[in-house]
Amino acid sequence: MVEVETIDTIEATTQNDKQEEAHPGRPRRLTAEGFAAKVASDPYIAGLRSGKADLSWFNAEPGKGMWGSWGVRALPSRRGLTLMDIERAADTEPQLQAPSVTAPRGAGYAEDIGETPWEINGKWEVWADNLVTLYEEACSRQWNATADIDWSRLEPLPHDLERALCQYNTFLTMGEYLATDVLAPWLPRFNTYFHEIKLFIASQAMDEARHTEVFRKRIYANGGGMGMAIKLGGALARAGGGMANAASNPLFSSWRDVSFAIHVVFEGAILSMFRFGEFLGKTDVDKQIFRMVMQDEARHVSYGTMHLKFLLDNAPDPESERERLHALADMAEVFFLDLFFLQPGTIESCAILAGEGLDGFARGLEIYKGVYAKMRAEYLSRIKRAGLDRTERCMFPSDLPF
Ligand SMILES: [Fe+2]
Ligand SMILES: [Fe+2]
Repeated sequence: MVEVETIDTIEATTQNDKQEEAHPGRPRRLTAEGFAAKVASDPYIAGLRSGKADLSWFNAEPGKGMWGSWGVRALPSRRGLTLMDIERAADTEPQLQAPSVTAPRGAGYAEDIGETPWEINGKWEVWADNLVTLYEEACSRQWNATADIDWSRLEPLPHDLERALCQYNTFLTMGEYLATDVLAPWLPRFNTYFHEIKLFIASQAMDEARHTEVFRKRIYANGGGMGMAIKLGGALARAGGGMANAASNPLFSSWRDVSFAIHVVFEGAILSMFRFGEFLGKTDVDKQIFRMVMQDEARHVSYGTMHLKFLLDNAPDPESERERLHALADMAEVFFLDLFFLQPGTIESCAILAGEGLDGFARGLEIYKGVYAKMRAEYLSRIKRAGLDRTERCMFPSDLPF
């Protein structure tokens, strides 16, 4: 096969000889002519020129070595041809440990394919029993922030409500970035064997992009504008806490940690706030936006919760994993309480919206505290169902202290 070798090992070509003459001792640069000569002299290419093909993949026996399987016919089900239909027909249920190669699950490969040191190779590290169905749902329920929102029906709002909604949406715009920026860099770390997680996280990145898009569009669509960017660590820094620097916190050091912190703690809270958004939204268009983002967000939280369950059921040492998760949750809850529920811009914009205006601020604040308490209860019951009981350890205070 053609090998693109390092510059030092390329055979001398006329061009390279010229370089050597002109600049003796200098590392030789690969030229187009030199590369073409190298390709042409490759034994396989030379064989092809004389009518000799390889065809080892074509002649390989299915299920052994170079060819995966043959005679598989996956039949579409009611919704079309789903990944579940493929899985049933191809019988490529993932094993607990992925091989250290770059190959799609079910493919054959040559013995000399070489090792790929994937970072995430254990099923227990990524799996959730609903992962593939969530991906199919993500694909079938994609929506379009340009055309699927009835923008023309947006009605003018009083100044205080428009300003509060723009502030809240500015915060949400930033939260959507956080999710994508933290999750997407993990894509190349998953072994190709677990295509389900690669596909699902890619679909989530698209969901979050659309959320940022729709909040940005709403901010500029009704006479308002972008509000104040939130300052990380504001509330706890004032109280003497040490979470001011997001980059230095260890929440994002493994996929299990990332998924718990983002899918379960952060997006669980966001999901509760989107549900509240139907109440916060003062126009049908705003309610529609919150409904649409909520259905996407529910998938993200669902993966995180079911992954947590799979992790606790299948980790090599479940008890130490549970303790590790408790320690992580201690930090994640503090971090996201600060990022989210103690942000002045979020507290105050939600209080104005819930109180139907600046005059109803005190009443709105009580409603906000009620929503927080509901979020906390939903979070605790969700993780308890997954096998992590934090009733006694939760760092979210039972009530917001104001
Ligand atoms: Fe989102
Ligand atoms: Fe999300």
